[in-house]
Amino acid sequence: MLSYRHAFHASNFADVLKHLVLMQLLEYLCKKDKPWCGIDTHAGPGSYTLTEDYALKNREFDNGIAKLWQRNDLPDSVARYVALIKDFNGTADLNRYPGSPLIIKHYLRSADRLFLYELHPTEIGQLQATVGRDKRIKTFHADGLKGALGLLPPKEHRGVVLIDPSYEIKTDYTQVVDTLRQQHKRFATGTYALWYPVVERRRNQQLELAIKNSGLKNVQLFELGIKTDSEEHGMTASGLIVVNPPWTLAADMQQVLPYLADVLGIDGAGSFRIETLVAE
Ligand SMILES: C[S@@+](CC[C@H](N)C(=O)[O-])C[C@H]1O[C@@H](n2cnc3c(N)ncnc32)[C@H](O)[C@@H]1O
Repeated sequence: MLSYRHAFHASNFADVLKHLVLMQLLEYLCKKDKPWCGIDTHAGPGSYTLTEDYALKNREFDNGIAKLWQRNDLPDSVARYVALIKDFNGTADLNRYPGSPLIIKHYLRSADRLFLYELHPTEIGQLQATVGRDKRIKTFHADGLKGALGLLPPKEHRGVVLIDPSYEIKTDYTQVVDTLRQQHKRFATGTYALWYPVVERRRNQQLELAIKNSGLKNVQLFELGIKTDSEEHGMTASGLIVVNPPWTLAADMQQVLPYLADVLGIDGAGSFRIETLVAE
């Protein structure tokens, strides 16, 4: 069943938004000296080579990170994100792209911890090789939706949970809401970032309604579209639903999302949404 490989999609427009928001959540946690705990329920292999077959098949990075690489008009947080990716490459050329595990690892300080879940038998091996031996990081070849529950609440009482399924299985759309609700029950002050694709808008409307009816509070949505919605076009947009976002995030996204919609939108069809799904 696990046929999805993120290497086909790494650093596309969806990764740009996801990792940019993730970076902001981590920067916010690092503002205080107190340790935090990161959990990535769907970690993937951790790092991607953009010069190899998987990435070259559809060249999705061309309409993602590559379009930002040479720009000199980037909003501040986008500039920090691109700088992080350039740092990771170590050269002026774009050859590699870090997945969420390496982005979170970049922000770990000595007392912070990171827990990574990956179910795919090949991806877990790559993930372990990518993150290497690090006392702060633990990897699990297990279901992240179920497994992460057992880690909550973390002893740090501060942290971020990234939930980034591939939605290969349509029940993912409902399972993620159940999981979020259970996680939040155990760790109400945590920040949660749930990624979603827009392939059939109807499914997103159901997902948003389920979040609104879930009892969760303080939930914001950030979405970037590159094409007009159509069930024939594959993924036309994607976004993040963030529970307990830093108070600075929405204001920053007001700068970032119009810019990304303009630069990454195809034939002028870029769009964005910034919405409070549930108030505090
Ligand atoms: C979208 S990719 C993850 C990308 C990664 N978070 C990033 O941003 O770099 C989703 C990954 O989840 C894995 N996966 C699917 N179902 C899972 C589950 N229930 N628990 C853990 N991993 C799962 C897939 O094998 C795939 O590698």
